[in-house]
Amino acid sequence: MKKTLWLAAPFLLLPALSAQAQSSEFNLICSAQAAWCNMLAVTFEKSQGVKVNMTLKGSGEAIAQIMAERANPKTDLWFGGTGDPHLQAAEQGLSMEYKSPTLPKLHDWAQKQAQQSGYKTVGIYSGPLGFGYNTELLAKKKLAVPKTWADLLKPEYKGEIQSANPASSGTAYTMIATLVQLMGEDQAFEYLKKLHGNIGAYTRSGTGPIKAVARGEATISISFVHDGPGEKAQGFPLETITPSDGTGAEIGSMSIIKGARNLDAAKKFYEWALTPSAQALGAATLQFQLPSNKETKVDPRVPDFRKIKLINYDYAKYGQTAERRRLIQRWEKDVNSLPR
Ligand code: G6P
Repeated sequence: MKKTLWLAAPFLLLPALSAQAQSSEFNLICSAQAAWCNMLAVTFEKSQGVKVNMTLKGSGEAIAQIMAERANPKTDLWFGGTGDPHLQAAEQGLSMEYKSPTLPKLHDWAQKQAQQSGYKTVGIYSGPLGFGYNTELLAKKKLAVPKTWADLLKPEYKGEIQSANPASSGTAYTMIATLVQLMGEDQAFEYLKKLHGNIGAYTRSGTGPIKAVARGEATISISFVHDGPGEKAQGFPLETITPSDGTGAEIGSMSIIKGARNLDAAKKFYEWALTPSAQALGAATLQFQLPSNKETKVDPRVPDFRKIKLINYDYAKYGQTAERRRLIQRWEKDVNSLPR
């Protein structure tokens, strides 16, 4: 009799537990493009029965919010955005160690991102930095396609180039870190000062410049080139190129926040986001980063890394809080303060 009761009890509890799971929710900061973030949230809600309270924030703004919430975290999970601030969050103990059983199915670069952070973040996508250009505007203004970083300094591009601001944008920080690794720090800042003279506007978000170029509001952008095919697919006269003298790439990352109040739901999303079917939602919403799960189908519009001259980007070094802060402050002081 006693045994029967013991066996029956978990069974009786089941409806209550699943009702609780059905009604659970979690708070997500999404640092990828809105179309992809929205699709992820809607599909997860529908398929997993967990409500997603989502905020869209650029990588730099996301880390600022997570730091501000340190004593009382409201965010449970941070999806996407460049990897450097995710490594910074890990270093500061703002994200939680979690070893996904899916790790062996991920590309080496995504696993390395996890290992380097003590398993407090993981790679979800990768994409190279380069230039976007409006083919019609270039032709109209009789300007050549820029092929190298040095080309961007040509006087004829004055006011024609847009970049994002590294304080808010991980894309722009990736640019600074790439140039420092390519040229050495002092030369990179000399370069950035000269480039500043050719910049028409710095945008808050990393995708601002390529969207402006696609729409004919600027001629050239410094952008992740995987953001190009999505604009082109919408009919804009946009092409991309990676500099022949070498470039960096991001490892878009995902982290669970330490002290997350909705940990189970956050973990559920984390695991789901690493599956090939969830990762395929990127290309379905015209986002063409290389997905981290080796089994995810790769859209032909994803940039071919084998054709790009990539530097050996030191993610651990440039993801350090002190390094990131120092380089951004130096950019503010030495570059952004100069007249244009
Ligand atoms: C876009 C790109 C992502 C990148 C993100 C960084 O959404 O598609 O690959 O991670 O920008 O955004 P941010 O505003 O921080 O530069």
